[in-house]
Amino acid sequence: MNNVIPKPSVPAPDIVRCAYMEIVVTDLAKSREFYVDLLGLHVTEEDENNIYLRSLEEFIHHNLVLRKGPIAAVAAFAYRVKSPAEVDAAEAYYKELGCRTERRKEGFTKGVGDSVRVEDPLGFPYEFFYEVEHVERLTQRYDLYSAGELVRLDHFNQVTPDVPRGRKYLEDLGFRVSEDIQDSDGVSYAVWMHRKQTVHDTALTGGNGPRMHHVAFATHEKHNIIQICDKMGALRISDRIERGPGRHGVSNAFYLYILDPDGHRVEIYTQDYYTGDPDNPTITWDVHDNQRRDWWGNPVVPSWYTEASLVLDLDGNPQPVIQRTDASEMAVTVGADGFSYTRKTEGEGADAVEQKTGFKLGAQL
Ligand SMILES: [Fe+2]
Repeated sequence: MNNVIPKPSVPAPDIVRCAYMEIVVTDLAKSREFYVDLLGLHVTEEDENNIYLRSLEEFIHHNLVLRKGPIAAVAAFAYRVKSPAEVDAAEAYYKELGCRTERRKEGFTKGVGDSVRVEDPLGFPYEFFYEVEHVERLTQRYDLYSAGELVRLDHFNQVTPDVPRGRKYLEDLGFRVSEDIQDSDGVSYAVWMHRKQTVHDTALTGGNGPRMHHVAFATHEKHNIIQICDKMGALRISDRIERGPGRHGVSNAFYLYILDPDGHRVEIYTQDYYTGDPDNPTITWDVHDNQRRDWWGNPVVPSWYTEASLVLDLDGNPQPVIQRTDASEMAVTVGADGFSYTRKTEGEGADAVEQKTGFKLGAQL
């Protein structure tokens, strides 16, 4: 895949942050149990076909829309832009890219005003908006605060077959790279990209796509995530815990991946780091580094690499999934031919750890 996406001549829209995701669910009542009763997201409003949810610290109308529909999929990855004029900028930008766009002054979801949705060059349904209804920010409603409280929407994660192609497109759109995973042959497996001053607003994971890998909500502390695990055990739905809890290498965040009733993956996430300086260093991980995906070296379950949600075009039909032709991360690290390391060589690794920690690893292992 060498079809590089050209940079438009018009300015990119000034994006503030990832703001909400609209997902299609097949059983609204079951999804309500998962997102409201289990995870404690707050209902801004709901009707027979839609539930509008927000996290504790959010002041805009919603971070997640559950819409009842026939096929589980993602209808929109929505970003807030800096001003109403930036919605015009987004529309002009994607028109020059030759993408299909749809502008709705009244918005696509309740609570959101003038917006544009696009089928982006990677096949994802992106939305850009500024006008939005403000609602009560529940930050100090400690009477509502649960032990596993989700406090902010943190990021999206998208699966795409050609990571460098997607990276260039998102860099042109104004995203900056905080971390990535490559191998010594230059194959790129994943990239983390941000507008707000965290590790990411979205990440690209190499694989068959376009598909949605996960949507992530932040908690204040690690213990909030452990409470969610305990609660899922108590409710006898531990089979919906897919991966974790654990500590990521990439992003440093403490994490948990769980699956909603339709198989949409949700990450619970906390403790990444500040990235706001213009010269924030990019961290590149070796795909064979056993600690890149889990700092404690726990293996990644195969489903995490292979399963993801379909995404919809602007007519509501699933986008066709294109196969990745580059090496898959699962195959090169955990498959039959794969390998990974914790220390590249005993001496080299031990020296590096001793410099950082003062411990002589050789003596202990
Ligand atoms: Fe994530």
